[in-house]
Amino acid sequence: MKASKISTIVIVVALCFAAGYGIGRLITSTAEDSEDKKITSIISQMTLEEKCHYVIGTSSRKCESDQELEDILAIKRTVPGVAGTTRPISRLGIPGILLADGPAGLRINPTREGDENTYYCTGFPVGALLASTWDPAAIEKVGEAMGNEVLEYGVDVLLAPGLNIKRNPLCGRNFEYYSEDPLIVGKSAAAMVRGVQSNGVGTSIKHFAANNAEINRLFSDSRVSVKALREIYLKGFEIAVKEAQPWTVMTSYNYLNGPYTSENPELLQTVLRDEWGFKGMVMSDWGGGQHPRLQIAAGNDLIESGKDWQYEDVLAAVKDGSLSEEALDKCVARILKLTMKTPRYNGYEYSSKPDLEAHAAVSREIAGQGVVLLKNEGGVLPLEEGAAVKVYGRNNPYKLYAGGTGSGDVHKTHTIYLDEGLEAAGFTLNDDADIAVINLRRQAGEGTDRHVADDFNLTEAEQGWISEAREAGKKVVVVINSGGVIETASWKDKADAIVMAWMPGQEAGHVIADVLSGKVNPSGCLPETFHESYEAVPAQNFPAMELPEGVNNSFYRESEVQLHEVPNVDYQDYIEGVYVGYRYYTTFNVPVSYPFGYGLSYTTFEMSDYKARISGGTVKASVTVKNTGERAGRKVVQIYLSRPEGCGAPVRELKAYAKTAELAPGESCTVELKFPAADLASFDEASSAWVAEAGDYTLSLCEDSATELAAATVKLGKTYVKKVADVLHTEGDLFIGTYDPEKLL
Ligand code: GLC
Repeated sequence: MKASKISTIVIVVALCFAAGYGIGRLITSTAEDSEDKKITSIISQMTLEEKCHYVIGTSSRKCESDQELEDILAIKRTVPGVAGTTRPISRLGIPGILLADGPAGLRINPTREGDENTYYCTGFPVGALLASTWDPAAIEKVGEAMGNEVLEYGVDVLLAPGLNIKRNPLCGRNFEYYSEDPLIVGKSAAAMVRGVQSNGVGTSIKHFAANNAEINRLFSDSRVSVKALREIYLKGFEIAVKEAQPWTVMTSYNYLNGPYTSENPELLQTVLRDEWGFKGMVMSDWGGGQHPRLQIAAGNDLIESGKDWQYEDVLAAVKDGSLSEEALDKCVARILKLTMKTPRYNGYEYSSKPDLEAHAAVSREIAGQGVVLLKNEGGVLPLEEGAAVKVYGRNNPYKLYAGGTGSGDVHKTHTIYLDEGLEAAGFTLNDDADIAVINLRRQAGEGTDRHVADDFNLTEAEQGWISEAREAGKKVVVVINSGGVIETASWKDKADAIVMAWMPGQEAGHVIADVLSGKVNPSGCLPETFHESYEAVPAQNFPAMELPEGVNNSFYRESEVQLHEVPNVDYQDYIEGVYVGYRYYTTFNVPVSYPFGYGLSYTTFEMSDYKARISGGTVKASVTVKNTGERAGRKVVQIYLSRPEGCGAPVRELKAYAKTAELAPGESCTVELKFPAADLASFDEASSAWVAEAGDYTLSLCEDSATELAAATVKLGKTYVKKVADVLHTEGDLFIGTYDPEKLL
């Protein structure tokens, strides 16, 4: 074919492509334009009262007519047990939409009066376990199944995932959250958002931001340096917004450096929308914030759960001019825009019959990928087929917790306990058995924090079981069923094997038996440190250490004004700064019991031929992974930015990770990892900019955060600087200092 003919064809193809692209863009922008026009038209038809009602949740029953009240009661009856709804405006054809929890599965009432059907949902593994898979694809698969139940039960937005940083192991909601590291938090949250939203329903990343304790959560001020906010506490939300565009964000209860997060335009407009490009709707937490007019002005579009006085405050503020109607209209518009995306608005006929059996299988499969093998002395695991086992545990030794309590709990049909799981796997349960399984289970939940004694630390009885089994000559296998880490250093030498099972969802007993039997080769890694002791935790400014005598754990110092009397209850100074978890332990050489990133397998792996380079603004790394053992297994590859000691920054920070597919014995694969060179930057408070100086950077291939296997140097050709708005500073002279390890060492 003549060259001229080819070039003609190429030109024609290019023109078609350009036209197609242009038409595509035209269609998108036209669709957005017509939606915007429709929203503008609806708002122009709304009365001021309707607008003020619309930004308040429907726990508020103040109505302008009987019909309005009937509409509210009707939407709330649609799916009993949802956390809340938006307000219907039937006059204008606007339905209310349904918002329901939570991060481990859809939370709605399992039964309804006068209805013989049931509405159970699948109890999936908690966030802590999902993060332990180090596998966004696995998390996305759970999200797809979870989102299908949201869709088929007629709900529009799932109030999940929870992604607050695990600053202190005692936080009562750590089971719902992912990690002490912002990269794992962000990548895990983005995967969950993609999975759920692939069903055409929404998510709500929460609690934005720095809600890292439960005690006094509505009235406590998290006081965090801007550097720690940018690098640690906001970074996970930033990644989730930029990579997955969640339909909504839920602000947190707490004050942050003075203002309530739900009342702070610097957080909700300047950072979330202007800087990160968030296009969705912002809602408050249920009862969060105290000044509705400030919440609307700040861009917190929907105030949940909704009280009559909040409506009155917004209406009065518009009337007295302290709140512009334009600001109110923006919030109304964002709620309408969200509503128009929902299955309810688009008339989806949901079945109320999701495939719970298939989802139970997904729950069990992915839970098995997040169990972490911490110790396996002499290959005591996997247990021999048909082995006899004696289980030790509190009260009912076989009982397991599928998940935590509060809004993160799920009304599931069952939880498989250890006896059912072990017997189904072919093991026999009796007391002359030479294998002892010690079941250390911990419950935790919303509204309260954990304790050090008999919670983070073992009870005397638990220590006794381990010693008794050992002295009886049994092989001791400890299974930790908890949403958060516990103390292990004082007793781990007495155990032959230790398995961190987290809260593995409703199939818990099967998940644990799958690992103990070897049906599943554990491949999880720790997304949070097993601290040597509670006293070693760098984030010591935490409420559980300061409760006034005789005050129970759900302690609120309810107050109209911000209090600063009781340290760590009225406010918490995050004096550790960016030194959270492994960033602290590796930088200051403080020992841990099990490091961030740690996890064993029933097989062994070898990693070789590690390389890293920068090209085209992207850091690219590769490594060959070989299964050198006898069993098929999966391996997590971890790449950290390593800095010289004493450089005034964390000496190790996770920058990329990937999990291999299952490798057969002897099989190898090459893992490619990449991340933007801009991620080499750290945040410079003085210039309010992300800065990565030109020069050499060391990227370490690590077994875990404490164990470097190989290092590669990459050269950043020119200094990278990205200025951002200089916002979110602490008000007044309240303490925010740089980290001083002397205080804790
Ligand atoms: C709760 C929780 C939040 C939940 C909401 C609705 O107080 O803090 O995570 O989504 O209220 O139940």
